[in-house]
Amino acid sequence: MFKIYHLANCTTCQRILKEIPNLKKFTLREIKSEPITAKELDAMKKLAGSYEALFSRRSMKYRPMGLHERTDVEVIALADPDAAMIARSQKTLANGGRKPAVVYGNGNEDYKNLLKRDDIDAVFICTPWEWHVPQGVAALEAGKFVGMEVCGGMNIQECWDIVHASERTGIPVMALENVCYRRDVLAVLNMVRQGLFGEVVHGQGGYLHDLRQVMLNSGKEDGYGDGVEFGPKGWSEAKWRTQHYVDRNGELYPTHGLGPVAVMMDINRGNRLTRLSSVASNARGLHKYIMEHPKGGPDHPNAKVQFKCGDIVNTQIQTANGQTILLTHDTTLQRPYNLGFRVQGTEGLWQDTGWGDLDQGMVYFEKQMDHSDRWDNSKSWMEQHDHPLWKRYGTMASGAGHGGMDYFVDHAFFECIKRDQPFPLDVYDLATWYAITPLSEKSIAEGGQVQDIPDFTAGKWQQRKPVFGFTDEY
Ligand SMILES: NC(=O)c1ccc[n+]([C@@H]2O[C@H](COP(=O)([O-])OP(=O)(O)OC[C@H]3O[C@@H](n4cnc5c(N)ncnc54)[C@H](O)[C@@H]3O)[C@@H](O)[C@H]2O)c1
Repeated sequence: MFKIYHLANCTTCQRILKEIPNLKKFTLREIKSEPITAKELDAMKKLAGSYEALFSRRSMKYRPMGLHERTDVEVIALADPDAAMIARSQKTLANGGRKPAVVYGNGNEDYKNLLKRDDIDAVFICTPWEWHVPQGVAALEAGKFVGMEVCGGMNIQECWDIVHASERTGIPVMALENVCYRRDVLAVLNMVRQGLFGEVVHGQGGYLHDLRQVMLNSGKEDGYGDGVEFGPKGWSEAKWRTQHYVDRNGELYPTHGLGPVAVMMDINRGNRLTRLSSVASNARGLHKYIMEHPKGGPDHPNAKVQFKCGDIVNTQIQTANGQTILLTHDTTLQRPYNLGFRVQGTEGLWQDTGWGDLDQGMVYFEKQMDHSDRWDNSKSWMEQHDHPLWKRYGTMASGAGHGGMDYFVDHAFFECIKRDQPFPLDVYDLATWYAITPLSEKSIAEGGQVQDIPDFTAGKWQQRKPVFGFTDEY
């Protein structure tokens, strides 16, 4: 009798099993409940020829895209004016066993032709920030669901434009804030909802990530660390992101830090952000990097560039329910990566100290910890309160981008469209989070003056109920 080794909760296994005509001929062996033994592995190696042949390289290539288990999504077309970037994307599709996409690469406006296609249901907008809202509005007007990458509010009017376009067309937009799905962040959300923190009174987060090599590089493919070029001579984000640091002084990347805290505080769903105030330090990091780089130095033309964005930008935010939030933008100095989360309530405290691994944080719950006044490592708390989504999809997500978070945000986007359910992070969240950037710029320019944060829900926040992450579905 033939034997099939399978995983009961794997959708690919389920699909393949359904396609096998006479399944009764086979012995089914569920490998999570009864793992493969070394002896069985050796027997399979003999049949396959090598251990390597037993692993599907194809499915490993799907993983970074989070598409490896998805038979419900097809990438029909790509719009990108950069031929080299299109070639990379096509390679990714080919590695995942997908058909090549139809290309719209004829300049910055060719995306409009892509939007005319009637075989596309939804678009991901993952372009430079200045393109997010114009492309999002055009996509809504063309009748496509929109998944919009993080950050990109060039001004407050743009934030209103995307809200109004979604309301006018009746088509939803999802804010693709992947950090809301980080494993430790979701475990803390679980703890917040279970009351471990008591009443949450303060949240902190930010983007504390040394981007000097991203924003100044050689201009060659993946030429990070190998030069100090930006603009047309730079590679990837150096082509466009660095210019924002020349022109703007503000909280340029608020959503990774704010999104998770906003979800925990039910922002736009019973609560809202009301006011902010921002201050910025000197801008020293990028200039110093250019001066000290072997390919830079005082004679390099970029040594004369005056960067406007302070190395550290701190933004304090108040909420309608009386909480405070502190956001930090810290991307141009030497430092290890950390998003600096802190959630503090009347009964508990979490401080994130690393890059999201479950043991890279500290907690304090005085009642459970016998008033010890000592931090406890977060690992066992996170494991005990692991979110149902990670319990269900953690294995599938494990190889996806950004430590698995990208799997969940894409999964939510696809599932909501298929089930005709509202997006858990919607256009009001997107507009509110995007608005932090132009408001922080204004505040800094006015010496830290407090700015009102618009209510993009127009009062609906008082009736709207939280919907993010209540089940293991999406
Ligand atoms: N969520 C996350 O963790 C995360 C991580 C990285 C980047 N991002 C965001 O994703 C977006 C893209 O960042 P990236 O790192 O991929 O940058 P990138 O520069 O590598 O890619 C941007 C692409 O957009 C293309 N483009 C430029 N103008 C266009 C136009 N008019 N129409 C169509 N395509 C155009 C560029 O040619 C380039 O290929 C940004 O908003 C960034 O903030 C999010």
